Amino acid sequence: MTKKIGIMTTGGDCSGLNTAIKYLIQGCNLRGWEAIGILDGTDGLYSTPAKTINLTEYILPVEHVHLSGSILSNGYSNGENFQTVSNTGKLKQYNAKLQQALKNLHLDALVLIGGNGSLSLAHTYNDIYKNLSLVCIPKTIDMDVPLTEKTIGFDTAVQQLTSFCDQLLLTARSHHRWFVVQAMGRKCGKLALDAGIASGADAILIPEIKFDTQELIKHIKNSEHDYGIIMVSEGISLRGHSGNPADIISRQLTAANIPNKTAFPEYLQRAGDTVASDRLLATGFANAALEAIDNKETNVIVVYNNKQFNTVSLQEFFNTGRKEKDPRIKTVLTSNAYVEPDDINLKNAINMGIYIGKLK
Ligand code: F6P
Repeated sequence: MTKKIGIMTTGGDCSGLNTAIKYLIQGCNLRGWEAIGILDGTDGLYSTPAKTINLTEYILPVEHVHLSGSILSNGYSNGENFQTVSNTGKLKQYNAKLQQALKNLHLDALVLIGGNGSLSLAHTYNDIYKNLSLVCIPKTIDMDVPLTEKTIGFDTAVQQLTSFCDQLLLTARSHHRWFVVQAMGRKCGKLALDAGIASGADAILIPEIKFDTQELIKHIKNSEHDYGIIMVSEGISLRGHSGNPADIISRQLTAANIPNKTAFPEYLQRAGDTVASDRLLATGFANAALEAIDNKETNVIVVYNNKQFNTVSLQEFFNTGRKEKDPRIKTVLTSNAYVEPDDINLKNAINMGIYIGKLK
């Protein structure tokens, strides 16, 4: 039986979204299903009429699938959305309009490609999707989605951040100075950890590990070289200080006579040509999502563990992670994963003498 499938990208973008979209379109075509894209995520769904596009293979030529961003767009950073409506008390009407918009589109299933914020919202406000099969694909450079070993965009972000540091090291050496590089990742230090190791950082500070600035200074002063990378995750907190963590650490190093500069790769971590491993992951997730629809599953997330693609329920995803208040919508809880003490890269970094701090 023919089906109509909606595809939507939400939350912060990352590399690999277009690969997932391409293979969703291809898989729908093979099944004789119609695929439509919802433009601008929930912002586009909330528009009157909802912003959609028919997805054919011509929309996304193969030579473009490696490009970062999403051809569907993820939405605006302002305007009416879950965040603004919850502040104005109009959440109920907002959710009802999204539900009606999906109904008007006569979708059999929606593939929602989102991070842990979007997935937590999909669980919390699940009524929006009650008239169709909801299948989610996890994407984020933060690697903070519980129950999956991989998320689309993470490997490319690690590569982007590593390449950024590779370039910095050349100028660092010429001027005998250190670079304090601030990585993205919110409260999860996985991006900083992996890219820090890959770029040969001498120290990596992440939110999950308690560190001591005096020990960090001692470590840098005792180093055999006078230049290098100190990787700082954006989510670390430094008691009594406010501002960017990299700036704070930089000032402390300067006060200890360690020549240094800060560097902020920022959104370059979400950009960059999708690395092959992210393309393979996106392809596998697209296939798993369509198989879930074939199997009449709903309210599930496709996950990758032990080299296998599977599904878990949104409920399980929500129950498993550590709950935090959504940074933008205070009334909503998000389900989060973090760097665990048994993370193999954490162990490798410690054993290789990279300053990390003490396991909490
Ligand atoms: O969650 C992905 C992420 O890139 C975080 O690493 C970062 O803190 C945040 O999004 C930035 O969000 P925005 O696009 O709203 O500035």
